[in-house]
Formats: sequence, structure tokens, C-alpha cells
Amino acid sequence: PSAFARFATGSPLLCCGCAGHQSALDAAGSEADATSFLFWILVGAGALIWLAVVGLLVYAIGDRRRMWSEDAAGKLILWGGPVFSSTVLFGLLTYTFWLMPGLRPSIDSALRIEITGTQFWWRVVYHKSPGPPAISANEVRLPVGERVEFVLRSDDVIHSFWIPSLGGKMDMIPGRTNTLPLLANRAGTYGGACTEFCGTSHALMAFSAVAMMPDDFERWLATQSSPAATAPAPGQDLFMRHGCGSCHRIDGTEARGLVGPDLSHLGGRETVGAGILPNTEETIARFITEPEVLKPGTRMPSFAMLPPEEIRAIARYLKGLR
Ligand code: CUA
Repeated sequence: PSAFARFATGSPLLCCGCAGHQSALDAAGSEADATSFLFWILVGAGALIWLAVVGLLVYAIGDRRRMWSEDAAGKLILWGGPVFSSTVLFGLLTYTFWLMPGLRPSIDSALRIEITGTQFWWRVVYHKSPGPPAISANEVRLPVGERVEFVLRSDDVIHSFWIPSLGGKMDMIPGRTNTLPLLANRAGTYGGACTEFCGTSHALMAFSAVAMMPDDFERWLATQSSPAATAPAPGQDLFMRHGCGSCHRIDGTEARGLVGPDLSHLGGRETVGAGILPNTEETIARFITEPEVLKPGTRMPSFAMLPPEEIRAIARYLKGLR
């Protein structure tokens, strides 16, 4: 953690919400470092100005006997009003502009991660030549120490992509492509969220961002661009027979649907349902049984009419896809 975060978390009364896996003040990336530093500069400058104004106010209230000459009062208003305010604001504005190239560096990244927001989940595609693109969903993985270019789009309404611990947020706008460079400088799992109201389950549109050591990331990415190695499972037959493959894709099978999240390596993800449940056989089975309860407004229909043992078999098969 940064010195600021250590200070902030060491003083619970001062700032109890600064640490954690989803905090812009507990920076784990260079863009987040710059914004959290700017935040503390603004807090410091704001505190000094507030103290000066309150000090003058107390002085003016407490010292009624000393009448200020009109000349002195006029000078105070002139220098304390327009001159002081413009100097401070100009200084802070200059500093903010000076930071901006660091927040939006032009990059020629070897790794591009294309993320498409859709009600209420994330399509994630990794592009790194010479390998084929790797398709995934609802989880973002990136190597530590390498600036990655996020390419952000939307399929339906405006969403917004934010991993507070790694950097600033960026809107995902239908018909537009936005890019956001981010560099993680500490390995770990960080929380990400949709930060633009996009419908009933906006608050349930989250994801994990996992920053990995570069070698681990390369190994992981290689597994993602090929089918999961699994033994034939009864759940696979059921998945295909009940038509799940018309909405979901599983690499290496006849399931090629693109309406819902790609499930090719679902078993290796941290969460189910775009960040809302831990990833276990039970939660997968629950999502198949009552998607509308867990995520109101989802396009996934309920499969509660299937016998429970069939749902369990499908969940076991999906959890085994790593
Ligand atoms: Cu997507 Cu809010």
C-alpha cells in the first residue's frame, strides 16, 4: 500500500473507508497513484483555506472593539477575494493539467483488452499477437508492470468501467470506442464495477480484476485461448440438450451462443453472475434455477423446471471448465 493508504488505514477515525480491494485511495496502479495523490493535495489545500477563512471569521467576531478602517477592509476583500482565490485555483488547475499526460499516456501496448458492457455483464476479449484472441466474461486479468490498453464499448445503454484501485473510470457508450490505459503495479485481486446507472441490475454489474505476475499471466492467457481440458461429463450433454449453447459459448463444443457470457473457462473465475456470488457449484446451480431473483432484468430465463439432479450435473460440468 502507498504511504498515504498506510497512514489512512492506520488512523481509523480519520478515514475508515480508504483501504480495501476497491478503493481509489488504496492505489495499486500508476494511474490510481496519480489520482489519489491529487486527491490528498486538494484535501490539504482545501483544509488550509478553510482554516484561514474560519480564523479570519473568528477574529472578526471576537474583536468587535477594533473597528477596521474602510481602507483596510477594502484591501482584505480585494486580496482575500479575487486575488487569493484565482491564485489558488490557477495553481491547482495547473497541477491537474500537469498530471493529465500521466493519466492518459499514449501507448503502444502489446496487450489490448476489449471490454463490452451489456445489461448486466461484461464481455472480455484479450488481444495479444501472435496468438488468437481469448474470449472471456465478467473477470479481467492483467500482468503487473505492463501498461494495458482497455478498449471500451457498449452493446446497449451507457455503462461505465471502473477499477478504483487501478485508475480512473471511463464511460462505455453505444456506437463509440473509448480507450483507457492502466498499469497495475501490485499483484492482487481488485474490485471493479459499473458506475453508470444502466437499468434494474446496475448495482449487480461488477467484476474482479486480477493483477498477476507476468509469467503467471502468460501461462493463464495461453490456457484461455484454447478449450478447457475436461473429461466428457453428463452435465455437458444436458447443457447442449437443453439449448444453453444457443446463448452461451463454450470453446471446443457446439455451444456458440453470443447472447450471454462466454463460459469456456467459467470454473477458473472468482465469481458467478458478474461479481455477485462466489464461484461454487452451488452458486452456479442457483443462478441456473433463479436468475431473475439473483439479477432482476437479466435476459437469462429460469431453468427451475429441470430436475435438481440435472441442474447439479450442469453446474458440476461448468465448474470443471478451467
Ligand atoms: Cu452497467 Cu450500470
